[in-house]
Amino acid sequence: MNILLLGSGGREHAIAYKISQSSLCEQLFIAPGNAGTDACGKNVDLKVDDFSAIRKFVLGHDVQMVVVGPEAPLVAGIADYFADDPKLRHVMVIGPGSKGAQLEGSKDFAKAFMQRHNIPTAQYRTFTRDTLSDGIEFLSTLQAPYVLKADGLAGGKGVLIVPTLAEAERELRSMLEDAKFGDASSKVVVEQFLSGIELSVFVLTDGQHYLLLPSAKDYKRIGEGDTGLNTGGMGSVSPVPFADKEFMKKVEERIVKRTIRGLIKEEIPYKGFIFVGLMNVAGDPYVIEYNVRMGDPETESVFPRIKSDVVELFQHTWHGTLDQSDISIDSRTAACVMMVAQGYPEHYEKGKAIHGLENFDGEGVPGEKPLVFHCGTKTDAQGQVLTNGGRVICVTCFANTLPEALLKSYQSADLIQWEGKYMRRDIGQDLLKLMV
Ligand code: AMP
Ligand code: GLY
Repeated sequence: MNILLLGSGGREHAIAYKISQSSLCEQLFIAPGNAGTDACGKNVDLKVDDFSAIRKFVLGHDVQMVVVGPEAPLVAGIADYFADDPKLRHVMVIGPGSKGAQLEGSKDFAKAFMQRHNIPTAQYRTFTRDTLSDGIEFLSTLQAPYVLKADGLAGGKGVLIVPTLAEAERELRSMLEDAKFGDASSKVVVEQFLSGIELSVFVLTDGQHYLLLPSAKDYKRIGEGDTGLNTGGMGSVSPVPFADKEFMKKVEERIVKRTIRGLIKEEIPYKGFIFVGLMNVAGDPYVIEYNVRMGDPETESVFPRIKSDVVELFQHTWHGTLDQSDISIDSRTAACVMMVAQGYPEHYEKGKAIHGLENFDGEGVPGEKPLVFHCGTKTDAQGQVLTNGGRVICVTCFANTLPEALLKSYQSADLIQWEGKYMRRDIGQDLLKLMV
């Protein structure tokens, strides 16, 4: 069948890499893609939020399956757009409708959903401009640090963690009264701070049944030792050593099953990924957030570990038959190291020539060759690959142990160069410390 994958990051390159290995895939299109995805299929110049252009392309190219990478088109209702159109209804869209996408699109919706279904999460209340004074009072009942979350999508910047009550009050005012994050902060969730270590758990569901994908940990801060500004993610490791059988059983019983049951009870059809951001608080999992897509850069270490045919899994997802499928996972550890542009996540330049990619010619084979996933890259008219974003390129390597996987990934990352390239050198080190 012909498949269209929407998105342009490292996540999409990793998904495209797996889709292209499937015997069920005839032609893979990636919209808009990047310099790397072009090797897995054909890039097409479509915007992920231009539904009518996507419609035209899907009909014109006999596309049977659309896999949605990022959250924005899901929250904007791309799955409903297909379901409501008699000519598109048969297309297998992997991603929830806008109602299910509220799990990511509205933090207030997600928190209330968790409360309704007894899913462990931080205590919280939601405030609007009209209830600002209640919000200030609620803040004073909490302990520092204070967690404030803009309700809507805010490009990953809508969560503030502030050390003092005075600052928390100021920020709450600025979010509600001065629309600090625009419409996204017309409602603000104020919640208890949870202390622990984070991990990401990924679920593929058809709305009734589910499969657990490998767990992963990402590294959000720009600086080593988890310091400095938040980024899209500077690296990832899969599996997470502390997510052992006992911990994952708790995750499944207390979080995953209750989430799926909640969706069924509320009659929210859901065919796609659920990414549960978790905090391990003294051995017990608490939900920090839901996302309705795969994580980036978690996908770059999670997807290569999936040995099953992902297109077959997506077909089961669409047909509601995930209970008849199984997932086979590579037991080795994958480590992904992200390379970014100088200045990221603030101002950075694009268009720098990337050197060293010839060291990785041909397709990477997990465990034998490093996997290079492009994030923000493009190819110029002469065929030179250029930087085209803040997160530029990443490398994933496999090994039997985490230290070996990290060593291989760093050795490979060192072979890729451009002016101003930066990467954190301490990906996975926190996990290694926990293991001794
Ligand atoms: P989010 O954008 O929801 O992923 O939040 C950004 C980051 O803020 C998370 O990855 C956590 O590191 C942190 N965070 C969010 N909520 C809490 C909380 N209740 N307690 C501690 N840290 C939190
Ligand atoms: N790596 C975190 C995210 O994709 O939201």
